[in-house]
Amino acid sequence: ASIMASVTSLLDAGVDFAPTDHRELLETIHHEAARLNRLIANFLDLSRMRAGVLVANRSPGGIDEIVEAVLARMRETLRGHNVRLILREDLPDVPMDMVQIDQLLTNVIENAAKFSPPGTDIHITASRWRDAVRVRITDQGPGIPPSQRERVFEPFIGDRTGNGTGSGLGLSIAHAIVTSHGGRIWLETAPGGGTAVSFDLPMTK
Ligand SMILES: Nc1ncnc2c1ncn2[C@@H]1O[C@H](COP(=O)(O)OP(=O)(O)OP(=O)(O)O)[C@@H](O)[C@H]1O
Ligand SMILES: [Mg+2]
Repeated sequence: ASIMASVTSLLDAGVDFAPTDHRELLETIHHEAARLNRLIANFLDLSRMRAGVLVANRSPGGIDEIVEAVLARMRETLRGHNVRLILREDLPDVPMDMVQIDQLLTNVIENAAKFSPPGTDIHITASRWRDAVRVRITDQGPGIPPSQRERVFEPFIGDRTGNGTGSGLGLSIAHAIVTSHGGRIWLETAPGGGTAVSFDLPMTK
């Protein structure tokens, strides 16, 4: 809708458009197009996973590298938050599909940024837990009530409070990815009442 509105204004205004307004409209279009891209990519991935045709390409790798790559890519999204990253030294490699784990982290971190107020902390920790690597992402947002904690992993479940941008796919994809890696993902209350999303990726499957 914002793309249509911006393009319409640009077309209507013809040539005599203040350059700053012009730029603002283009930025809106850019932002919205990126959002649509993500939505479609998420939607296709979920469909493929459900159909069993998304081929996982697993090889042993370090979660730390992927976390760092995701944070670098999401710098813009995370600008308003204080990100604290704690990567333990003794992290074992785990068999994983790098592209899928990247997407899993992106979806969860994006939620933390979207649903918690600017200026608050987002903590990301990765540590070894028995025969798995455990990753936990906590924020200082409103949290997810216990009654919702199973449901949010279902597709299309979400509320519209997070800037009204959600389509409710992010966590269902995260769930599908973790499960296909033989791990599990769950929600808890973070210290201070926010959301804590944790997942385990086992060293052997
Ligand atoms: N960190 C969080 N804090 C508070 N609520 C959350 C958080 N993460 C998820 N939720 C709730 O769970 C719902 C489902 O999350 P999910 O990522 O699947 O969908 P979305 O973010 O709404 O849309 P999408 O990820 O497809 O853009 C959200 O709409 C929100 O209500
Ligand atoms: Mg999401």
